[in-house]
Amino acid sequence: MSNVAVIGSQWGDEGKGKIVDWLSNRADVVVRFQGGHNAGHTLVIDGVEYKLHLLPSGIVRKAKVSIIGNGVVIDPWALSKEIETIRKQGVEVNPQKLMIAENAPLILPVHSALDEAMEKARGNNPIGTTKRGIGPAYEDKIARRALRVCDLEYPEVMKRKLDRMMLHHNALLKGLGCDEISPDDILEQLLEIRDEILQYKAVTWLVLDKFRQEGKKILFEGAQGMMLDVDHGTYPYVTSSNMASAQAATGSGMSPDSIGYVLGITKAYTTRVGEGPFPTEQDNEIGHFLGEKGHEFGTTTGRKRRCGWFDAALVRQTIKVGGIHGIALTKLDVLDGLDEIKICVGYELNGSRIDYIPASSVEQAALKPVYETIEGWKDSTRGARSWGDIPAQAVKYVRMIEGLVEAPVTLLSTSPERDDTILMHDPFTVKG
Ligand code: IMP
Repeated sequence: MSNVAVIGSQWGDEGKGKIVDWLSNRADVVVRFQGGHNAGHTLVIDGVEYKLHLLPSGIVRKAKVSIIGNGVVIDPWALSKEIETIRKQGVEVNPQKLMIAENAPLILPVHSALDEAMEKARGNNPIGTTKRGIGPAYEDKIARRALRVCDLEYPEVMKRKLDRMMLHHNALLKGLGCDEISPDDILEQLLEIRDEILQYKAVTWLVLDKFRQEGKKILFEGAQGMMLDVDHGTYPYVTSSNMASAQAATGSGMSPDSIGYVLGITKAYTTRVGEGPFPTEQDNEIGHFLGEKGHEFGTTTGRKRRCGWFDAALVRQTIKVGGIHGIALTKLDVLDGLDEIKICVGYELNGSRIDYIPASSVEQAALKPVYETIEGWKDSTRGARSWGDIPAQAVKYVRMIEGLVEAPVTLLSTSPERDDTILMHDPFTVKG
């Protein structure tokens, strides 16, 4: 029996929430290992919608343990609010069900202020961040300035760290023409919230090791998508963490061989939020059709997502770099009714053909997609629960994707409802 990691294979918003929820039914433990409350996972269970940002998707189920790993950046106030909201929906949250890594760094009010100020300073060339403070919090982690969950136990450590951190950040805020922030104000806010957060503090790597020894099934829940990976994505238009499956190990304190099967969540077309290159973008009627039919608005910021054709060259690349064994194809039904469908199979760059996304942002912006076109299908695929319910032309589209991305479709999702899913192999029982 292997553990499973779920990661996004495009620019996020591939429909990970539903798949993770579906898989968490088969798992004992669900672990978040990167990102923060920039993520937005929507779960629909018995018609009730749950919107999660920082909490692992296992939280909505009884008898599952949810872990926020050390690779995540935690905004204590956002976490507290999210727990309050989900409790109002009848979900129980307690320290037996939710554990937070003692070595996870915190997002503080100064980080969101800096995120906002830096975006403003980028003028006409912003990244389009969620302004949640994600980037500045990871910067502080790498610069060894961060306050971590374990520091909440020690007010004198918090004070010392905050004084040092704000010496650095206030110089920057001043330079950007913003008001300085008092370290004592942040300390006061932290002292108010710390007990609430500390009840969930745990030595999560030890907890996970124990689960592993007991043969418990662990589900690693990725956020965002491979093209937003700080190393392998469309840098600098990326987020500040790694999404590749290797991060599931580093971001939770487990060994890479504990990961098992890596499932790449892949939308049957492509979307992106924020700025940056997007070779198959359709800023036209097709893009509008996909956006409206696919309800492509951000869960976290409500921003309209940019939409375009499926990019097989991009997904092939993220499958290889991300260590993906098989894909879960989502939102196929959004393509129902189109006369013809295009799939990007490679690019033209300055007159030459290439079949990968290069690292240079200049070259990324110059990529011209090369398409193959197939006839669409008129019948609905929505809610299909077996291959027999899928029109032949749609099956052809799925098979074409499998061939082009060089990975099998392990799972097909045909609506937001949990049971509208066709399973080819159970990721918990196949070997990666
Ligand atoms: P940040 O993570 O807020 O720094 O934003 C950096 C980039 O990642 C922006 O383009 C965001 O729109 C994008 N981004 C961050 N989180 C998500 C997500 O969960 N889904 C899709 N895009 C995201």
